[in-house]
Amino acid sequence: MGLDVAGVVEAAGHGETFFKPGDEVFAKVSIGQGGYAEYTVVSSNQVARKPGSIGFIESAAIPTAGLAAWQSIFDIAGLESGQTILIHGAAGGVGTFAVQFAKWKGAYVIGTASSKNAGFLKSIGSDEVIDYRNQRFEEIVNNLDVVLDTIGEDTFERSWGVLKPGGFLVSTVASIPEGAPQRYGVRAKTLMTQADGRELAQIAAIIDEQKIKPIVTTVLPLTDARKAHEMSESRHARGKIVLRVAEDPR
Ligand SMILES: NC(=O)c1ccc[n+]([C@@H]2O[C@H](COP(=O)([O-])OP(=O)(O)OC[C@H]3O[C@@H](n4cnc5c(N)ncnc54)[C@H](OP(=O)(O)O)[C@@H]3O)[C@@H](O)[C@H]2O)c1
Repeated sequence: MGLDVAGVVEAAGHGETFFKPGDEVFAKVSIGQGGYAEYTVVSSNQVARKPGSIGFIESAAIPTAGLAAWQSIFDIAGLESGQTILIHGAAGGVGTFAVQFAKWKGAYVIGTASSKNAGFLKSIGSDEVIDYRNQRFEEIVNNLDVVLDTIGEDTFERSWGVLKPGGFLVSTVASIPEGAPQRYGVRAKTLMTQADGRELAQIAAIIDEQKIKPIVTTVLPLTDARKAHEMSESRHARGKIVLRVAEDPR
């Protein structure tokens, strides 16, 4: 189990010239490769040097959620400065990166969350927060450039109508029903996050420039993996939960 790792290179394969033993790195590993382990094997194009300004725990919080947010809003939806984005699940693992990336890009950022997360989301860059438990977002916003849906079901279905013509609905969870984008006059895609060392390096750079930061709310030993999964499966964790598998190797 486990898709995200941060640690120290133990050995590099034949022909590898960029990474060498002792390098401090982070990576999204392939499914089944085992991030919940003291050692893992990862292809060098999935790896980047970890941000120098943060530790291994915070770095391990980045890969899947950070890449999911980056690829959704930039590679897929093409969010640009001055555009408006609605992020569903803004307080979650993907959402906390998406809010910060979108703000860094110069977009106007609206997030959905429960009221307990409103102040937190404003502190990381949300211009507006919609309390999904007491408000219907489609009665508050419209004519949006991009919607990032990390929730699915009803939230996904109600999102079509808040986009401007040609706007983009990207979902980390929902499949796009055939014909729906044409029916609404918008574009839509389901994310399949790719491991990408070059994008991780870009994310590391903006972290070292203090523009964004990983939000780690809980750190647990590997022996508490079950508890970590239960917290995650509650679907109400804020930011990321990180498992400490080994002592800090520095
Ligand atoms: N396709 C891919 O490649 C890919 C990649 C990464 C993740 N994913 C998927 O994307 C989804 C999100 O991942 P994640 O790690 O961000 O999840 P997460 O961290 O577990 O999300 C938890 C957050 O969701 C919020 N939330 C729950 N119900 C909500 C609702 N109805 N409206 C708005 N916010 C709500 C909670 O806020 P409150 O506590 O305030 O309710 C909480 O902060 C997961 O299903 C994950 O499997 C897919």
